[in-house]
Amino acid sequence: MNSSHLSHKGFTATQTPARVDMKIYFEAMENLYHPDQNPSGALPMNVAENHLCWEMLRERIQKVTRENDIPDWVASYTDPSGAPTFREATAGFLSKFLFKVPVDAESLAFSSGATSVIEMSAFLLANPGDTAVIPAPSYPVYTGDIGVVPSVKRYDLQTHVEVTELNGGISISTELLEKAKSDIESKGSRFKILILTTPDNPTGAIYSEEQLRKIADWCIQNEVHLVVNEIYSLSRIDISHPELTASYPNPIDFVSFGKLMAEYQSPYLHFWYSFSKDLGISGFRVGLVHSHNQDFLDAYRNAGMGHSISNFTQWVMQEVMADHTFLEAYFTAYRKELTQSYLIVTRALRSMNITFSPSYGSLFVWMDISRFLGEKTEKGEEKLWIDIYENTGVLLTPAHGFGHQKRGLFRMVISGMDHAALQVAMDRLYSYFTDK
Ligand SMILES: Cc1ncc(COP(=O)(O)O)c(C=O)c1O
Repeated sequence: MNSSHLSHKGFTATQTPARVDMKIYFEAMENLYHPDQNPSGALPMNVAENHLCWEMLRERIQKVTRENDIPDWVASYTDPSGAPTFREATAGFLSKFLFKVPVDAESLAFSSGATSVIEMSAFLLANPGDTAVIPAPSYPVYTGDIGVVPSVKRYDLQTHVEVTELNGGISISTELLEKAKSDIESKGSRFKILILTTPDNPTGAIYSEEQLRKIADWCIQNEVHLVVNEIYSLSRIDISHPELTASYPNPIDFVSFGKLMAEYQSPYLHFWYSFSKDLGISGFRVGLVHSHNQDFLDAYRNAGMGHSISNFTQWVMQEVMADHTFLEAYFTAYRKELTQSYLIVTRALRSMNITFSPSYGSLFVWMDISRFLGEKTEKGEEKLWIDIYENTGVLLTPAHGFGHQKRGLFRMVISGMDHAALQVAMDRLYSYFTDK
């Protein structure tokens, strides 16, 4: 009962945790594994953190504050969509490392993390009660980001059942989009936004350029906003590694949607990015949207002040984003580390006969452990998830909320710990699953 005099939304929020695994995650963090001091400690693999090259980035960030005085503008208000110098530096970064075409700094708007950017975009692009379609499985927190404030509904578009069906990519066709549209309209809502994540969370799959073009054409024709979230775009696995090539018989080339947007110049196409994953600085809270829709950018600037990033963060990061020599070295080292993490995990899964989706990138491995479920329901999933944690200390992401039709598929974060700890996690899972 709403006895605390909150709004309807406020009361609903008291009953709706942002993530169902937060409490257990903090508990695991209190009892973290350490090879000498806590060898039986917990190994949280549920939150999408990347700690693989933090030392390298920390060094570069500290150089900025060590060698420079804080400029005067940092102490005052600036453009709510991002300080002009920070926007310029980030436009240069996107152009060089992702889009491979020039990027106009005026086409970017920043907020505190992709989370804010997603919320703001949904709020500005759709009306309450409209629907955003998202191919399943996908990031559980999208539901709250588009739902809590903007009141936009999530529609999980089922494109496949088994993880093995992802070997050739995500089979999202215009027929499937048409079907979703009539389904949504028959329920009295409107298909207003399509959200694609590439590389995908949790599957690690990517969309080919041809697919992106077909989907973009359909969206423009149907006046649907297409947003491509490339938050994992530089977290790519080296699929040319000799141990991995066989898993990608018809490899898909990664092409940034930003490159296609430069060509289309359509008001219906948008792009999201954040520094949380590729750079592993989720705590800095830097997210951005890129768009050629001037009305959207104007509205974003006028309505987005409450979400802006601190100038101190923008100043420090503009220095790092402008240092392309450092970033080249960082991403080369990071890609090697991430590929090694992926190898450790996938070797272990193969030895346990557990199938998984071959990943092109992201911080995850998406696996099918449905054969270990007691009952093939959400309750059964929760029981298995807790049982794994209680017996191994390995905390996977709960299956609930990814929106996929098959039960028993779980996500494992592979980048939150060093390789030695990751191997310990895999050894514990091996004992658990082979004893079952
Ligand atoms: C697909 C996706 N979008 C957005 C976010 C949130 O990112 P941020 O930390 O920048 O808010 C995440 C974090 O896991 C994510 O996986």
